[in-house]
Amino acid sequence: MVAAALKPPPGARPDWTIDQDWLGYSTDEHRTWDRLYDRQTALLPGRACDAFLRGLEALDLRQGGAPELARVNEVLSMLTGWRVVAVPGLVPDEVFFEHLANRRFPAGRFIRSPEQLDYLQEPDLFHDLFGHAPMLTDPVFADYMQAYGEGGRRALRLGRLANLARLYWYTVEFGLVRTPAGLRIYGAGVLSSRAETLYALDDPRPRRIAFDLERVMRTPYRIDDLQALYFVAPSIEALLQATLSDFSSLYARLETAQDIPLGCIDPGDRLAPV
Ligand SMILES: [Fe+2]
Repeated sequence: MVAAALKPPPGARPDWTIDQDWLGYSTDEHRTWDRLYDRQTALLPGRACDAFLRGLEALDLRQGGAPELARVNEVLSMLTGWRVVAVPGLVPDEVFFEHLANRRFPAGRFIRSPEQLDYLQEPDLFHDLFGHAPMLTDPVFADYMQAYGEGGRRALRLGRLANLARLYWYTVEFGLVRTPAGLRIYGAGVLSSRAETLYALDDPRPRRIAFDLERVMRTPYRIDDLQALYFVAPSIEALLQATLSDFSSLYARLETAQDIPLGCIDPGDRLAPV
C-alpha cells in the first residue's frame, strides 16, 4: 500500500494486475522459494497461530518451487472467495483498497535474490503469498481484510489514511494474537521473516500491549527495523468485531489527538497477558 502514479505501468491491466508468468521463473528463483519456505516453516510450530498453520497446509505451497497462483486460487477461492492476483510492485492506495474490498489480494510477482533472503523492502511473492495467503483461508480474517479494503476507501475520502494504515501495519503485517497456548503470530510481516518470527515472541526488547483500536491509530511505525511494539489481539474474531464500525467518531477524535511516539507509554496501555 503506497502512494504511486495512478496510471498502471506498461503491460499491466487497468486494475494494475499482470499475469504471473510462472514459466518465467528461473531455477534459482524456484530454489529460493523452497529455501525460504523450508527455513520459515521450521520455525512456525508454537509460534504461528493455528489459523495460519491450517491455511498453509490447505494451500500446499511446497510443491517444488514457486507456486502457481492459479492453483493456489482454486483452493483459496473455494474456502473464502479470496484470490491472489499478481501486480508489478507497490500499487496506489485506491487500487489496493479496491482489490481488497473485492477479495483480491495483490501480490508481487518477483522473487527476492539469494542475497536478500533475510530482508527486502518491497514485498515479493514469498512475503505476499506465504505471509498473507494462509490467513486469507480463515473465514473471520477473510472478512476482516475485505472490511479493511472498504474502510480504506472511506479513509481516503476523509483524509485519515495515515491512521488507517497503522491498523493494517499493526494487525495484518505485525499482529500477535493471544491463544490458550500462549502468544502466537498472525502478521505476514513477521511470519515471512526469519529474524522477526524469533524476535516478536521471544525477545525481551519489544513491548507487547493489548490491542486497542484508537491506540493503534495513534501509533506511528517504523519500516526499516524490527518492531519496537506489537499489539496483541484477544482473538481474530475480536479484531473483526472491534473494526466493524465506519470509524467516523474515532476519526473525529483523532483530529485533535496527539500521536503516541514509539517508546512512550500511554496511561491507557494494558500489557498483553501471555
Ligand atoms: Fe504485506
